[in-house]
Amino acid sequence: MSYEFITTRRDGPVEYLTLNRPDVRNAFNEHVIAELTAWAAGVHEAAARREIRVVVLSGAGKVFCAGADVAWMSKTIHYTEDENLRDAAAMSRMFSAINRVPVPVIGRIQGAALGGGAGLAAVCDIVVADDAALFGFTEVKLGILPAVISPFVLAKIGQSAARELFLTGARFSAARAKEIGLVHAVVSAAELDDRINQYVQELLTAGPEAIAAAKALIPAVWGRDSDVATSITAAAIAARRVSPEGQEGLRAFLEKRAPAWRAK
Ligand code: COA
Repeated sequence: MSYEFITTRRDGPVEYLTLNRPDVRNAFNEHVIAELTAWAAGVHEAAARREIRVVVLSGAGKVFCAGADVAWMSKTIHYTEDENLRDAAAMSRMFSAINRVPVPVIGRIQGAALGGGAGLAAVCDIVVADDAALFGFTEVKLGILPAVISPFVLAKIGQSAARELFLTGARFSAARAKEIGLVHAVVSAAELDDRINQYVQELLTAGPEAIAAAKALIPAVWGRDSDVATSITAAAIAARRVSPEGQEGLRAFLEKRAPAWRAK
């Protein structure tokens, strides 16, 4: 599939997805949203065929993502509430689709991740940021609010940090982003790709179906009471134990050899 506003490159089992509107700091509009949603659907299919095992999400140029495109938002001033609802629902579906891709998504944050850009960081599984990167849920500064991204951001940073940062709209450092759980590693800009590659290599040593199951397990058990959690977690581990991949993993460990998925 060819895209206009994003680029994709495959290196073995690793898919590199890049937001590609550097002139507007990779701000996203309805076209970017449509392309990202279509891309996420494609990843589901490619992951099922085992063609993709890891995604690295980055932004072209000096900034990861400046959030929603202000020019696009200015058009929405003339939309009816229903049209705005449709528009926002499409954006929500995009975040949700990226959030649920069945392979790990690593976010590569340079420069800034603001508004919806910080939302994109929140739907990544692992986020590596350059130590000069700026973050912010800046929507209130524009008289709007971080609505669509809020479920994903809250799941990462919790209510306390959200109360401060959603309400002030203040920009904050990569170090703070790490402290609140939005970012997992902070390195110098020169070290970004090395750190990401370390994560990629680490992920490739784990069973792909096990990773997908672990990723799905987290939202499935989050907030459940322990009785419900028991049935979900027992079913999840039982399914892995009887699966060919689970059996191969345990056998390989006992036989002191690499499991089959590592040879690829
Ligand atoms: N939507 C549309 N265009 C944007 C944009 C956005 N969200 N953010 C930046 N741009 C455009 C600027 O208008 C500018 O266009 P121009 O060259 O035609 O003047 C271009 O991108 C470069 O922006 P600039 O501010 O000069 O880049 P910078 O590298 O110095 O700073 C940011 C980058 C991201 C820190 C800064 O652009 C910024 O704060 N943007 C606003 C982000 C924001 O509040 N987003 C929340 C939306 S809800």
